[in-house]
Amino acid sequence: MRKSVVRPLLAALVVLPLAAPVLADGLDTRIGEGLFRRMWVAAPTATQAADGLGPLYNARGCAACHPKGGGGRPPDPAVASDQGVGFALKMNDDPVYGRQLQTNAIPGHRAEGRPTIRYRDEPVRFPDGERVTLRRPSYGVADLGYGPLAAETVLSPRLAPRVHGMGLLDAIPDAAIEAEAERQRASGGPVAGRPNRVVVDGVARVGRFGWKAANPTLDRQNAEAFSLDIGMSTPAFRDPWGDCTAAQTACRAGPHGDSKQFEGLEIPSSVIGLIDGFLRDLPPDGGLEPPKDAEGAALFASVGCASCHRPSYTTAADPTRPALSERTIFPHSDLLLHDMGDGLADGVAAFEARGRDWRTTPLWGLNRLAAQDGRLTLLHDGRARSVAEAILWHGGEAESARRSYMELPREARKRLVRYVLGL
Ligand code: HEC
Ligand code: HEC
Repeated sequence: MRKSVVRPLLAALVVLPLAAPVLADGLDTRIGEGLFRRMWVAAPTATQAADGLGPLYNARGCAACHPKGGGGRPPDPAVASDQGVGFALKMNDDPVYGRQLQTNAIPGHRAEGRPTIRYRDEPVRFPDGERVTLRRPSYGVADLGYGPLAAETVLSPRLAPRVHGMGLLDAIPDAAIEAEAERQRASGGPVAGRPNRVVVDGVARVGRFGWKAANPTLDRQNAEAFSLDIGMSTPAFRDPWGDCTAAQTACRAGPHGDSKQFEGLEIPSSVIGLIDGFLRDLPPDGGLEPPKDAEGAALFASVGCASCHRPSYTTAADPTRPALSERTIFPHSDLLLHDMGDGLADGVAAFEARGRDWRTTPLWGLNRLAAQDGRLTLLHDGRARSVAEAILWHGGEAESARRSYMELPREARKRLVRYVLGL
């Protein structure tokens, strides 16, 4: 459908009050924001313009898991009905349940189940006597709707990350990420990150989105969310039943919203394009200037954090997007995969990422959350409640950085945490 027809239709569909600051402003960005916040409904509806949810799904819209573009939190095990926010259980292709446990279903269909978490407290003692208690999670599924999971199925919990600054990360050239991997390898130390290499439509690209860098572009990450999380079809993932497998016949035969006026899809390219555009222009909550705290930066480097949390990258030249073009940004990530040891391992592979590998998480934007240290939900499954806990889970290639941190005098440890919470 032509843009001129789609646009008024979409403008009528969305609410436009939020008005988050964006890198480039315009009506399309505002409509994209409205679509990001939109809660989709089951087919059929009179307009066909907002339907096709599910039949199985995790949440009804992007903002349900990424509220205000922020990250999620895991379910509270003390509250039986709590589903958390933006918490998903991925699986390594279960023959019945597929790639992700869908926790909700439209009327007449059955949800796949609900994740359960148990935490075991593990005290850690610093050489100077200070104590921090880590919580070690174990995961399961209750109320399985379609029989048992396959014996080989491994659960991989994932929390919805913060989604600010994605356009800038997308604009970092593959070659710059590959050069950083080469530099780390040549240095001969314990830190040797590798790019995830993802082949999409026959083209190999460097993966950078998601906790295992399994998606090479923002567009693809967003389209995958419609399929896996919301159960809606897009040009990149054309099945209207999302993650339902051939064994889930009722789901595959269920109502869907593919519609002629929308390219035979539930979410046509115009709609996904507007959401991509909104996220591309959503600026990071920090990280556009070099950190001011030079002493903190020196500590961060000397302990070994900067080996993976590389302070800066420069984006590629792109005359069509001046706000994203040739900018030096400070995400504090090399966007490479690192073996983080057994404590964090999920045992699930994604392209070239293995069971112990995770992408270095960009640390920009933590300043917005600093006041919550002690109640944060950090790491891929939200198990860490503070920056100190997050560091103490670091193992594998990060083992020596963790040890150096533990051996710092108490004041210096505080100083380092303060620095990280200022990024
Ligand atoms: C059910 C909750 C849920 C919904 C709904 C959801 N997401 Fe996500 N999102 C996640 C999780 C979990 C991840 C991490 C995925 C992974 O690592 O495999 C993620 C990752 C992302 C990322 C990558 C962030 C990064 O740091 O690399 C982007 C961008 C994103 N989502 C955008 C969207 C958009 C756009 C929508 C709506 C079309 C959406 N999400 C809907 C849970 C959700
Ligand atoms: C070998 C590479 C490596 C080193 C060295 C390293 N990190 Fe990390 N860091 C990672 C990876 C990979 C993750 C994601 C792990 C996960 O989520 O399971 C991460 C996650 C984090 C997080 C959680 C961020 C979030 O939003 O969830 C913080 C905070 C952090 N690192 C701080 C540090 C600090 C401080 C140091 C130095 C003491 C450090 N890291 C050293 C690779 C590294």
